[in-house]
Amino acid sequence: MMISLAPMEGITTYIYRNAINKYFGGIDKFYTPFLTASHLKGRELRDVNPDNNDPENLIPQLLVNDSDLFITITKQLQNLGYDEVNLNLGCPSGTVTSKGRGSGFLDKTNELKKFLDDIFDRTPISISIKTRIGFEFINEWEDIAEIYKNYPIKELIIHPRVGKELYKGTAHRDIYEQMISYLKGYMPDTLFTYNGDITTIDDPYYKKDSIMIGRGLINDPSLAYKIKTGNDSFPDFKKSFILFHDELLNNYVTEMNYEDQVVKKMKELWVYFSKGLNIDKKLTKEILKSNSLVSYKNTFNIVKQYI
Ligand SMILES: Cc1cc2nc3c(=O)[nH]c(=O)nc-3n(C[C@H](O)[C@H](O)[C@H](O)COP(=O)(O)O)c2cc1C
Repeated sequence: MMISLAPMEGITTYIYRNAINKYFGGIDKFYTPFLTASHLKGRELRDVNPDNNDPENLIPQLLVNDSDLFITITKQLQNLGYDEVNLNLGCPSGTVTSKGRGSGFLDKTNELKKFLDDIFDRTPISISIKTRIGFEFINEWEDIAEIYKNYPIKELIIHPRVGKELYKGTAHRDIYEQMISYLKGYMPDTLFTYNGDITTIDDPYYKKDSIMIGRGLINDPSLAYKIKTGNDSFPDFKKSFILFHDELLNNYVTEMNYEDQVVKKMKELWVYFSKGLNIDKKLTKEILKSNSLVSYKNTFNIVKQYI
């Protein structure tokens, strides 16, 4: 069974990926949140820099709709030691889709075909795709499948919602099944990966050969371990969680220029941790109210006793 951590912009930074891997494990593959700039520098470069990552189990993701730009960035990634790049055809954010990128590329089938023809022709490394099943309507999956079946896609990760649904409702798993049973006949060498709404080991979809998990793993960083071992608890979870937390905090303090940025980053994580940790929600709300690094640390020192 293959488990990958879904890319989540602002959350699954190299600091986060390294910490979850070190303290909880169980994850086979990691993806960077989307990269967009033509020249890798600053935060984007740090996130793919081999000094901070193991290129063997990290796949950088690009969110672009211009084939020259795709190839320009891919060549820089190849020089850093990467042999695979992932194309984001799923992002539902209005600012992205209005520019015809992410899931906003899925209903522009002629442009999409031209783009895929070009990148599969000219990209020097393997290409995988992370996709939704459409932009506006569920039945768009049929047109999209007609396109994908023509390309040597290394891995096709399908999140079965349409872009317009954002993260609402539940994933259309019936459509996922229809889509892969159709595509498997045409794409025998492609790995098909399911992504969407897996948050516990009670979900039968965790038994798929290849799954990608996002929010479920941020809520509970031990979820991949639980899935892999079949145990419903992680040994000495409290100790590992505190070490994991402290490493995240210390590394963000080192990386960021301002304490406010660190507090904001940690609070973003607590939106998820508060769902996964079995502690009083009033306590986790206190963390979300912290307005300085000192108050954040003081509150965490109280909260951690209850983990
Ligand atoms: C805050 C946030 C940021 C995300 N950033 C990305 C991203 O950079 N690239 C991407 O392909 N998907 C991104 N996603 C989508 C996730 O990778 C994943 O497809 C989605 O959360 C569904 O999986 P889940 O139900 O396991 O969370 C993001 C989702 C969230 C909630």
